[in-house]
Amino acid sequence: MGMDIEKLLAEMTLEEKASLLSGGDFWHTKAVDRLGIPAVMMSDGPHGLRKQDEKGDHLGINDSIKAVCFPAASATAASFDREVLRRLGEGIGDACQHEDLSTILGPAVCIKRSPLCGRNFEYFSEDPYLAGELATAHIQGVQSRNIGTSIKHFAANSQEHRRMSSDSVVDERTLREIYLPAFETAVKKAQPWTVMCSYNKVNGEYASQNHWLLTEVLRDEWGFEGYVMSDWGAVSDRVKGVAAGLDLEMPASGGSNDARIVAAVRAGELAEEDVDKSVRRILTIIDRYMSNRKPETEWNMEAQHCLAGKLAADCMVLLKNEDQILPFKTDEKVAVIGKFAAQPRYQGGGSSHINSFRVESLMDALEGNDKIVYARGYDIVTEEPDEELISQAVAAAASCDKAVIVAGLPDSFESEGYDRTHMRMPRCQVELIERVAQANANTVVVLYNGSPVEMPWIDCVKGVVEGYLGGQAVGAATKAVLWGEVNPSGRLPESFPLHLEDNPSYLSYQGEGNTAVYTEGVFVGYRYYDKKKMDVLFPFGFGLSYTTFAYDNLRLSAGEIDDTQTLEVCVDVTNTGSAAGKEVVQLYVGAPECEVFRPVRELKGFEKVELAPGETKTLKFTLDKRSFAYWSVKLHDWFVADGDYSIQIGRNSRDIVLCQSVKVTGTTPEPLEKVSPDTIFLDLQKNPKAMAVLQPLLQKMMEAFTGGKEDQTDAAAEAVSDEMGQAMMRYMPLRGLMSFGGGAVTYDTLLELAEKINSME
Ligand code: BGC
Repeated sequence: MGMDIEKLLAEMTLEEKASLLSGGDFWHTKAVDRLGIPAVMMSDGPHGLRKQDEKGDHLGINDSIKAVCFPAASATAASFDREVLRRLGEGIGDACQHEDLSTILGPAVCIKRSPLCGRNFEYFSEDPYLAGELATAHIQGVQSRNIGTSIKHFAANSQEHRRMSSDSVVDERTLREIYLPAFETAVKKAQPWTVMCSYNKVNGEYASQNHWLLTEVLRDEWGFEGYVMSDWGAVSDRVKGVAAGLDLEMPASGGSNDARIVAAVRAGELAEEDVDKSVRRILTIIDRYMSNRKPETEWNMEAQHCLAGKLAADCMVLLKNEDQILPFKTDEKVAVIGKFAAQPRYQGGGSSHINSFRVESLMDALEGNDKIVYARGYDIVTEEPDEELISQAVAAAASCDKAVIVAGLPDSFESEGYDRTHMRMPRCQVELIERVAQANANTVVVLYNGSPVEMPWIDCVKGVVEGYLGGQAVGAATKAVLWGEVNPSGRLPESFPLHLEDNPSYLSYQGEGNTAVYTEGVFVGYRYYDKKKMDVLFPFGFGLSYTTFAYDNLRLSAGEIDDTQTLEVCVDVTNTGSAAGKEVVQLYVGAPECEVFRPVRELKGFEKVELAPGETKTLKFTLDKRSFAYWSVKLHDWFVADGDYSIQIGRNSRDIVLCQSVKVTGTTPEPLEKVSPDTIFLDLQKNPKAMAVLQPLLQKMMEAFTGGKEDQTDAAAEAVSDEMGQAMMRYMPLRGLMSFGGGAVTYDTLLELAEKINSME
């Protein structure tokens, strides 16, 4: 029997209600014993359980139970595979049931505005469509086990610098197109049980007390049904927060904020109905969990370790494979170099840090293989090259057919709580790579890192594999990819710029003081690099395979649609090589020129498909209004501009293989701007009502600019041609009729005309 929430509400005192709106301790909601309301537990997240005892903290400092560390979001995003996220979510959901955890805190979907964000390793992508789709699959996976998720950190939280005080100043269109859609998609498609608001302010107001964000957008527009909790310590004004829609404050405030809520209700400053709403939402979720508890669920950690390794292999991105240096053959002698080969970096620091029950390094996975020679190459703690370690590595490489260096970023380089200051790898690793590559021309680099690095050494090596932070079984996954047991199929979920300075947020990232203005607008990541036709190290969506794929036969269900209709897009994909493999087919939409600045292309669909050699499969995508729309600040809604849109099928954002266009008509016009004497002719011409009224006057003005040639000298007629006159006219305000119309109209007449136009139906 579930709870009778309305009955409970009626029986609760105001104090009891207020007490439910903050945590009992670091990880529990509060109980009301008198009424049989239990306390339930939650834990971090997102890629495994960080269940802590009473020595709780939110920075991963104190120990948690032994658990399974799955690949971090930076890695799973590279899978471009909803199935990977769903299976990861199911595994975590089972573990939560076993451990009596009601909710796991994640997924984290903040957009990677800059490669420098310290938490990029636990975020998905620079692209909101990709992040939204993957978050949806993650949530569906966890919640299929009747465990709640908490999608975070809502919203516009793309830096760690001053993370608890910074104000993200983001224009309306950019918020809607870039920073909100991952949350929106997940809420609409997967209904996460909870949402976690972020520490930062959004356009001047803390997210934790932002009514527009937590109520108008999240609930009224998107239909969110669960409850909102604060990030740990994100509450400033608790009373304002309740009214704004922040249901649960985490962790606890020692009762002080609960008392403030009670006092505010008593003083008539806060509606008790707002408190009731929050209580109702929290109890609904507690009840959902309690009614579906299954503590008998098995948590087979060994099986999940294998799953973590399998998923990690599907996330690895083959970035370079000159002369088909990879895969290694079993009879080749290979020098395996680098401390990370024996002690991998497989997760990031902070609240997502998991106490792995087991870690499998590449060297562990290669145990018993007598073709392997190992050399440490570098130390993780120091930046400085160690001559002795490098010499040993060089000697090992020289004695083998091939060499692989496992490198990347040490923990201290990227973590929750602070941002990176540069995009470089440690000097000791860069020197090691260059020296080993000199000793053995067949050198491959594997990277374990949570976000892009500069690769000054890329031309010295033949192969590069981006492994991101692959979870506790990363060694097995790395071995599988290097020796060809798994054909790599990951794709970069973010652009790798050549230099940090190339990044569009470079000039304003982190902001000035507590104000971080998102100056690049919607041009984040590939939206910027593609528009500027800039060289990048690797484009968004990039990744190689041990086989080859051909795309063919792109077909659209219609040549013309309006924005109430959907468009089906089909394309055939064939494995034209000799190895089985998975391909990620990416669908981008390019918009026609219109009133606002738009990216050259935007990802609107992707599918991962497995193909045997010679096999062909047909992939189908469905596009709808949102695939074509931009956010109109006139309508405060999505708007489709009329025109020809290109449907682009590509291997990555820079390699579009097939393209066709579709004519799309918008059915909701933008409101016409009000006419005044200051409105320019160009805008009047777009306004049929204005044209109906002003045509004769405008004609006169036009003549003044272009006509009357008979009275002009040849030189004057040549100096301003008709075309030039018309072009200049476009920017002339209506009041120009007074200045240049020979006094034919007065200002009052213009005001009258404007009013007439504005009041026309
Ligand atoms: C982090 C959250 C985390 C919470 C609880 C905060 O510092 O920002 O992502 O879920 O702590 O550990």
